[in-house]
Amino acid sequence: MPNREFTLSLDIVRVAEDAAVAAYGEVGGGDEKRADQAAVDAMRTALNALNIDGRIVIGEGERDEAPMLYIGEKVGKGKGPEIDIALDPLEGTTLAAKAQANALAVIAFAPRGGLLHAPDTYMDKLAIGPGYAADVVDLDASPEDNVQALAKAKGVKVNEIVACVLDRPRHEGIIASLRKAGARVHLITDGDVAGVIHTAQPETGIDIYLGQGGAPEGVLACAALKSVGGQFQGRLVFKRDEERKRAERLGLTDFDRKYGLNDLVSGDAVFVATGVTNGALLRGVQKEVATGGDIYVTTESLVLDSRTRTSRKIHTRRPLVW
Ligand code: FBP
Repeated sequence: MPNREFTLSLDIVRVAEDAAVAAYGEVGGGDEKRADQAAVDAMRTALNALNIDGRIVIGEGERDEAPMLYIGEKVGKGKGPEIDIALDPLEGTTLAAKAQANALAVIAFAPRGGLLHAPDTYMDKLAIGPGYAADVVDLDASPEDNVQALAKAKGVKVNEIVACVLDRPRHEGIIASLRKAGARVHLITDGDVAGVIHTAQPETGIDIYLGQGGAPEGVLACAALKSVGGQFQGRLVFKRDEERKRAERLGLTDFDRKYGLNDLVSGDAVFVATGVTNGALLRGVQKEVATGGDIYVTTESLVLDSRTRTSRKIHTRRPLVW
């Protein structure tokens, strides 16, 4: 099995790479939808070339709203392992449209049933890196209490704790509470999949992620944490009745449930992110005209396999058209 496992990881890398390269073509164009569509089309084509019996469980939305890569869509050649797939072909559509840092193409594979069918709603999120006792922090505690508890567990002063938060008006209370405690606040404009993963990467300096972002992105981030360790807690946020109905259709009944990492990703998972624009997690797509005029693209991907707890970075250089 190890060889097959590795081959599948490389296949998944190619899917994320294709989405990233396609989105790269739209970087800086100012059109979020166009950039997203380019990534979606490329990801779908690449997925359908795989020898898997794939099913999208976290995708671009519901069938009536998303013409491609909708929740429930079958992908792959229909033969091979039964795989559930969570994806965000362009995580950070605004970042890509504005040619800003940190846009990614993201995908996670798990054996059938291994990923929560999360609706496309918001989720309150809390994440910390590996090495802490279970529940040292709690989604229901105040941000202030959480960073104090984390500082104590880490053996540092609170002003050495860095909290990553999406820069949104809805997070004013969280940011104020963190600053009141004396923690440093690292604000990001978009991209909380990377924000959560950073808690497990000591070199980023980020200790904790807090705040409300997309629920699909929460599941994707957990697929990554599953390999690199760390803790995650999340609760779905419903702003409209229609969102509750959507959740019901996906089989969810307890709307107030606090989900842990293993509730969102119950089995093993392979997570891949490919950089679209340069960022803290990965380098973006680079284009190069080689001697003779051929155009090459270079991509960087992070591949995390929870079965082997393996973390790889893969650099790929290939002709733009092949
Ligand atoms: P998109 O790629 O769909 O634009 O998502 C980017 C993102 O920043 C996510 O990382 C995050 O979970 C979500 O948007 C936050 O939503 P909002 O922009 O509505 O605050």
